Amino acid sequence: MLNITIDGRSLEAREGQTILEVAREAGIHIPTLCYLAERSAIGSCRVCVVDVEGQAAPMPACTTPVVDGMQVQTDSERVQKHRRMAVDLLLSNHGLDSTNFCFSCGKNGACELQAVAREVGVTETTFPVEQRRKPVLDSNPFLRFDPNLCIACQRCVGACNNAAGNHVLQTAKRGVRTTIRAPFGPSWDRTICESCGNCAQACPTGALVEKRRAGYREWEVEKVLTTCPHCATGCQYYL
Ligand code: FES
Repeated sequence: MLNITIDGRSLEAREGQTILEVAREAGIHIPTLCYLAERSAIGSCRVCVVDVEGQAAPMPACTTPVVDGMQVQTDSERVQKHRRMAVDLLLSNHGLDSTNFCFSCGKNGACELQAVAREVGVTETTFPVEQRRKPVLDSNPFLRFDPNLCIACQRCVGACNNAAGNHVLQTAKRGVRTTIRAPFGPSWDRTICESCGNCAQACPTGALVEKRRAGYREWEVEKVLTTCPHCATGCQYYL
């Protein structure tokens, strides 16, 4: 076992665990966005950064493995500043304008970006960049993809590949141009997509949603472990 300290608490950790895993086991909250347990941990959003003694810059808790004697601070002033900057940047091209705003989004109230922004104290972006105007892919009868709301966290790709084992969703391009190739356009029925909905469940924003979501709000339904209603494959995956 390894011994580490998080926020002054002495904790035992197993070899190979990340800071986030140890913190969660100990009930210490670290906000996350791109991380999806056992499905995807690419360390892209930088919302989970923490201070690690001896490191010049904050480190992402979701991808940083613990080492013996590590000293971690999860909520220092520097960490809070970095988290606000990360969320500010994500919001800057999240499609928030007069034609697209939270109230009209199917994920309003259940959006993790909205929740994290509130948690870290970001109410608007300080980077007024041009908004994306990509076409919404709407041909799939069950699923809808709005690339303008996508934060390229790739959780949907992890869910499609690692949970459903379908490998239908892929990433394309690199860096700030990273996009998700979701086959929900006119030729969606010529792909092997089973419309299982794992991708929509994994999406933290309103980018990938089940269409029936338009008929209810998150707090009006009860979540149960179930077999997918679309294809009956039996993924039995839910968040
Ligand atoms: Fe760790 Fe996104 S949750 S970098």
